[in-house]
Amino acid sequence: MKKNILVIPGDGIGPEVTTWGKAVLEKIGSIYGHTFSFDEGLMGHVAIEATGTSLPDDTLAKAKASDAILFGAVGHIKYDNDPSAKVRPEQGLLKIRKELGLYANLRPIMLFDELLNASSLKPEILKGTDILFFRELTGDVYFGEKTRGDGFSSDLMIYHKYEVERIAKKAYEAAMVRGKKLCSVDKANVLETSRLWREVIQDVAKQYPEVETEHMFIDNAAMQLVKNPKKFDVVVTANLFGDILTDEASQIAGSMGMLASASIGDGTGFFEPIHGSAHDIAGQDKANPLASILSVALMYEIAFGLKEEAKRITDAVDKTLKAGYRTGDIADSNTDKAKILGTTAMGQKVLEYI
Ligand SMILES: NC(=O)c1ccc[n+]([C@@H]2O[C@H](COP(=O)([O-])OP(=O)(O)OC[C@H]3O[C@@H](n4cnc5c(N)ncnc54)[C@H](O)[C@@H]3O)[C@@H](O)[C@H]2O)c1
Repeated sequence: MKKNILVIPGDGIGPEVTTWGKAVLEKIGSIYGHTFSFDEGLMGHVAIEATGTSLPDDTLAKAKASDAILFGAVGHIKYDNDPSAKVRPEQGLLKIRKELGLYANLRPIMLFDELLNASSLKPEILKGTDILFFRELTGDVYFGEKTRGDGFSSDLMIYHKYEVERIAKKAYEAAMVRGKKLCSVDKANVLETSRLWREVIQDVAKQYPEVETEHMFIDNAAMQLVKNPKKFDVVVTANLFGDILTDEASQIAGSMGMLASASIGDGTGFFEPIHGSAHDIAGQDKANPLASILSVALMYEIAFGLKEEAKRITDAVDKTLKAGYRTGDIADSNTDKAKILGTTAMGQKVLEYI
C-alpha cells in the first residue's frame, strides 16, 4: 500500500506527540511493506502567527489531496484568556472538519488493565469497560449563529434530520459488529433539537432490529458513566454532549493522554488524540504520546482497513504498559520511579515493542 499522509502538528504538545504517531506509522509500514509520502500543514496558533489565519488555504488544499491526516492539537494560552480575540486557533479545527465533511468523531474508550489504578475510579467499577463513542461533529451550538447584543449573547443550537441520520447509521453499523447495544444520549425533555434527534434515532433503529436501543438524558448519562461504565457499548450523541462526555470518559482510560479519536465522513479521515495543546506541560518532554500512537492504530484500521497492523500497535502499547513503563500522567504510587518516562523515551519504548 502507498498513501499520502498530511501531518498537522499544531500547537503546544501537538508537535511533541505527533512525532511519535508518525514514527509508529512508518515503523509499521516498514514491517508490512507500506510506504507513505508525508507532507506537513500549519493550523492553529502557529498558523495565525505565520499567516494571520488559523487554517491557511494551503493546509486545506493539502488535506483534501491526502489519504489521511494525522493531527496533534491546537490552542494557545493567549486566546484562552482573551474571549474577545476574533481570530482563534480552534476556528481552524472547526473549519477543516466542516470542509472535509467529517461528521462523525469516533472515540474508543479502551481500558488497558495495567492502568486500572491510574484512574480516579475504583478498579472493580472500571474493569471490562469497552465503549465506542460516536460524537456528531458538524452541527449543534458549534456552528449555529452566534450573537452578542447589549448585555446578552446567544448560540443557536441547530440540527438537521440528515445530520442525525448519517451518524446514527454509522453508530448502528458499529453496534452490529460489537455488542449490539446502542445508547443515544440527548436532552429530549428540554431541547427541541434533542426531540428531533430522538425521533430520527427511533426511525433508524427500525433498520437494525437486532440492536438493543436505549435513550438516555445527558445528565443521567454523565452520572451512569462513572457509576457503571460497563453498561455502555456504542454511545451516539450530539456535538456538545459528546465533547463533555468523552472528556469525562477519558478518566476511565486513566488520562487524556491515552485516548485516540478518528473523525470520518465523506472524504479524507482525520486522526487525533482527544487532548488539547496542554500549555502546562508543553516543551517539557512530559506529554504522553500514546494517544497519538493509538490514533495511528485507528488510521490503519479505519482509513486503510488494515486490522492486523492496527492490532500490532495496540499490542505494543499494551506490552509497554505491562513492562511497567509510564509517563507522569498515568503513573501512580506503585510505579517504579525508574520507569517513569518522558515523551521521547516512551515513544522509543513503543517502537521497540513493535
Ligand atoms: N483538539 C484540540 O486541538 C483541542 C482539544 C481540547 C482543547 N484544546 C485547546 O488546548 C488548550 C488547553 O486546553 P485544556 O487545558 O482544557 O485541555 P488539554 O487537553 O490540553 O489539557 C487538560 C489536562 O490534561 C493534561 N494532558 C492533556 N494531554 C496530555 C498528554 N498527552 N499527556 C499528559 N497530560 C496531558 C494537561 O497537562 C492538562 O492538565 C486550550 O487552548 C484549548 O482550546 C484543543
